[in-house]
Amino acid sequence: MNRILNRIFAVSLAVFMASAVATAEIVKVDTKSSSMVLDATKGKKLKHLYYGANITDADASSLKSAGAANRDAYPDYGLITVPETALSAVHSDGNMTLDLRVDGVEHRKDGKGDLTVIRLKDAYYPFTVNVNYRTYPDADVMETWTDILHGEKGTVKLTRFASGYIPVRYGNVWLSNLYGAWGNETHVDAQPLAHGMKVIKNRDGVRNSHFAHSEVMFSLDGKPQENTGRTIGAALCYSGNYKLRIDTDASDYHHFFAGINEEDSPYNLKKGEVFTTPVLALSYSNDGLSGVSRNFHRWARNHRMAHGNELRKILLNSWEGVYFDINEAGMDKMMEDIASMGGELFVMDDGWFGVKYPRDNDKVGLGDWRVDKRKLPNGIDGLIKSARKHGVKFGIWIEPEMVNVKSELFEKHPEYVVKAANREPKYGRGGGQMVLDLGNPAVQDIVFTIVDTLMTKYPDIDYIKWDANMSQLNHGSQYLSADNQSHLFIDYHKGLAKNLDRIRAKYPDVTIQACAGGGGRANYGVLPWFDEFWVSDNTDALQRVYIQWGTSYFYPAVAMASHISATPNHQTHRVTPLKYRIDVAMSGRLGMEIQPQNMTEEEKALCRKAIEEYKSIRPVVQQGDIYRLLSPYDNQGAASLMYTSPEKDRAVFFWWKTEAFRNKQYPRVPMAGLDPDKTYRVTELNRIDNKPMKFEGKTFTGRFLMDNGLEMPVNHSVDNSQRNEWASRVLLLEAVK
Ligand code: DGJ
Repeated sequence: MNRILNRIFAVSLAVFMASAVATAEIVKVDTKSSSMVLDATKGKKLKHLYYGANITDADASSLKSAGAANRDAYPDYGLITVPETALSAVHSDGNMTLDLRVDGVEHRKDGKGDLTVIRLKDAYYPFTVNVNYRTYPDADVMETWTDILHGEKGTVKLTRFASGYIPVRYGNVWLSNLYGAWGNETHVDAQPLAHGMKVIKNRDGVRNSHFAHSEVMFSLDGKPQENTGRTIGAALCYSGNYKLRIDTDASDYHHFFAGINEEDSPYNLKKGEVFTTPVLALSYSNDGLSGVSRNFHRWARNHRMAHGNELRKILLNSWEGVYFDINEAGMDKMMEDIASMGGELFVMDDGWFGVKYPRDNDKVGLGDWRVDKRKLPNGIDGLIKSARKHGVKFGIWIEPEMVNVKSELFEKHPEYVVKAANREPKYGRGGGQMVLDLGNPAVQDIVFTIVDTLMTKYPDIDYIKWDANMSQLNHGSQYLSADNQSHLFIDYHKGLAKNLDRIRAKYPDVTIQACAGGGGRANYGVLPWFDEFWVSDNTDALQRVYIQWGTSYFYPAVAMASHISATPNHQTHRVTPLKYRIDVAMSGRLGMEIQPQNMTEEEKALCRKAIEEYKSIRPVVQQGDIYRLLSPYDNQGAASLMYTSPEKDRAVFFWWKTEAFRNKQYPRVPMAGLDPDKTYRVTELNRIDNKPMKFEGKTFTGRFLMDNGLEMPVNHSVDNSQRNEWASRVLLLEAVK
């Protein structure tokens, strides 16, 4: 080993030199396609040199001569007060400065991953920060986070605590971020990074993805492209308030910081207590936005979500079908109907509980998880019996973090809610909802017991829809001391995590959906315990094309609940044909959100066929690699994406018309992600046309399909009475020998 290599500590899939720990100066953390290079010279500031495409050890050792970022890797506040920082603290003696220096580097195996820990110590105070990097052999995502602790006599007040910092070389760099609102979640915004500060943040306290998302992509080569271009993706994996900052100053770098939102949340850290920041997941790809998405999806399925490698059941959820109008006969009929269409699971939504305060609307009952026998005389047992009779599994809705003032729980324990002392509370949904204070261990027990009681009494429950319909409006904990009121937001999410750990330890197999008034919990903070999330309360198929497009930037289809609903749509009142609604829903985790009794036999037959066909493509959609092809944001009149199996022997192509104008010129969409040398047979799924398309059953090479695509007829050839402005296509591509 030469002199330079002796100085390199590489955590690489290919090269791993653990022996170099003691003399480490240059630390290289590798995934298959990316490298992070740091200068961790003992006694000096930890320096970020590089993050980008995978580089060799030799290039890493010459990085500085090529021009490297050479910025503090975890910038601390105090001695140079001008730039943005990742960390700031007030020591127990009132000193507001930090001076963190490298104290050591350590590498160890960490479950299925490789962990590199760089220990930083303050030059004067007994104050330590561990900067962690975790990689996995099968994932092109790198996780970074910090552990902050001290040995000072009194408490240290943490006033900023980012999970990580990345300098991105200044240039024609575009930021893609997700924004929205309730019922309109996860739209994509893309703009070049301009001078000044871009801040993306959340202050909801409970949910964090209705309005903005804690995930962003940086396209380093100008306007974002789906399948080409150097791209960095970053996801802060947190369920609570977050803040992402991108500061474009006069230096040669855009400075990206991501972490818990520190606003109104300074944290008093006791001696010996460890403050662990949430994981910031980073991925680099030369293959554009979709390349980064594929990396995140694979990492998520393998490491960051519950049962990511398992296929999801096709379900009917009762909400849009009956809303609060739950009754035994109605539930039984819905189960019969979904079973008759080939579905596998029925989920009873809100409205089934409350004895003193029956849950007939959203104003009462939350907190009292006892069956309303007026509606369900034979209780949950009766429903489970029905489910067995119809051959489907049974699932149930709960909102365990919340309470209504009109509930027996609140009457007994008003001290359990989040509420500011000496103030009239502000209420949430329905005018009487409040948040339970999950930082309080007694409340944690209550929330655990809600799930535990249901699961113990009814072990047949296969699926839980876990909802959360309110922001944390009142800043006040009746549990925390006066000094620690600023811990409210952070301790809430620590409490949530503790609860979910406990639930998963006892009930590892139950499927749990994270719902939060629609897509309020589409985040990697909760996914380790949840199997999927409800993407939006908006089930309108056209709007879902946009919502699901943005969601797919970071989240795999297996996590993305996507339901066929009624027309006119309950949120937009738009009328769309069932075929279009089916074709959109089939690009995610397929389900239904409808009253089947209102469907015609013909409509049920179409759904039956779609469900059968979905079963055949489910592994490709839910476990495959995504290639987004034509963005609805490009306003070309259509949108299109496809999934391919890892072996590239099967693929599913989706195409949806998004605008209808007579004689409009729609683009032809080249495919992607196929094996150029394989030959694929094309079969249309969910066909409604009177005659097959010209390419039906024909074979084409992957190369031809990727160079040219196929010409999509932009109208369906159906009887006059069936014509409308909508069109959509789902094509199955199967490699032939
Ligand atoms: C909000 C959810 O997003 C809906 O799907 C439904 O479960 C309602 N809550 C029930 O109150």
